Amino acid sequence: MSRSTDILFTPFAHGALQLKNRIVMAPMTRSFSPGGVPGADVEAYYRRRAENDVGLILSEGVAPNTVTALGTPHVPNIVAPEAKAGWKKVSEAVRKAGGAMGLQLWHEGPYRNPAKSAFPDIPSWSASGVKVPGKQLWEPMTEAEIETAIEEFAAAALATKELGFACAEFHGAHSYLIDSFFWDQTNLRTDKWGGDWKGRTEFACEIIRRSRKLVGPDFPLLIRLSQWKQQDFNVRTAENPAELEKWLAPLVEAGIDIFHCSQRRFWEPAFDDSDLNFAGWTKKLTGKPSISVGSVGLSGEFTAAYSGEVSKPASLDALVERMEKREFDLIAVGRALLSDPEWVVKIRDGRTADLKDFTKDALATLY
Ligand SMILES: Cc1cc2nc3c(=O)[nH]c(=O)nc-3n(C[C@H](O)[C@H](O)[C@H](O)COP(=O)(O)O)c2cc1C
Repeated sequence: MSRSTDILFTPFAHGALQLKNRIVMAPMTRSFSPGGVPGADVEAYYRRRAENDVGLILSEGVAPNTVTALGTPHVPNIVAPEAKAGWKKVSEAVRKAGGAMGLQLWHEGPYRNPAKSAFPDIPSWSASGVKVPGKQLWEPMTEAEIETAIEEFAAAALATKELGFACAEFHGAHSYLIDSFFWDQTNLRTDKWGGDWKGRTEFACEIIRRSRKLVGPDFPLLIRLSQWKQQDFNVRTAENPAELEKWLAPLVEAGIDIFHCSQRRFWEPAFDDSDLNFAGWTKKLTGKPSISVGSVGLSGEFTAAYSGEVSKPASLDALVERMEKREFDLIAVGRALLSDPEWVVKIRDGRTADLKDFTKDALATLY
């Protein structure tokens, strides 16, 4: 007999963010926006998830500039007037369907492949030009480039608010631009943007402060963080809770509202000597609401799909147990919602026999 999932369907409120349930659609890049402009299919994709009761939809990564932020083709931006017009239609469609949605603001930083970008001669941006520890590929960002990047993130946060979305999330995880500043293996700077935790968090803090000034006190700002890096799932930015506190406290001070703590399997403890996961520790150390994520409702983690492995529907009991203990406040679901827009209502109505497998084919989901 499975546990009741009622806890997932209790409302959530934090400041201006009011959600009908605790299920968040995880940000998932889809590359279906030719020219960076989200079209009618993108609108339909998000509307369907809103119509099927996802509590909060976080968009795929959206670029805050069209030059250095992107290597991946057909990723949307929030800079060009046509792209903004497309996002406005998305926000209106989701709101009409009774949903809430935020944009995830994503600068690929050292993981932008210049050769695949529209500007192959322009080097990629990152704290120290280091993509993988020990190997410098580009010059460190100049002071002027850092200032530009901060301004672009803040302008993107303001645009997100003006286009009618419920919140904005900065992508500070998975080795991309902001994360390249956090990790001491990719941030080798000796100026105010590097060094100790205060220095390494300063880039993110300045983005948050500058955004807060533009969006005002009430517009919810989220940040996604991860211990893991793309080239190594086992490394950790913070080795212990004391380091984690030094990482998070400046972000709270700068004005972040909610932390989105990315891990591949939500049940894995962040550190030894405690069962708490990354989102659990983050909530405990900051007192701020947190979102967890990682293989919810599926038998394999998200990287499995790329090697062709099929993930089967899996029990939610362990998730329910953690949420009943209030270890974290919200749970993000990625692939299950990519392949099945009705996943939330199926869970709510106990239609477990109707749940779908996740296969690589789902990565091509258009609607
Ligand atoms: C196709 C795909 C695209 C993704 N794109 C992003 C992204 O743009 N931004 C991000 O923060 N995470 C991205 N992720 C990671 C997901 O947000 C999520 O953390 C991961 O899939 C684990 O959740 P799941 O096990 O429920 O799928 C992506 C994952 C997938 C499968």
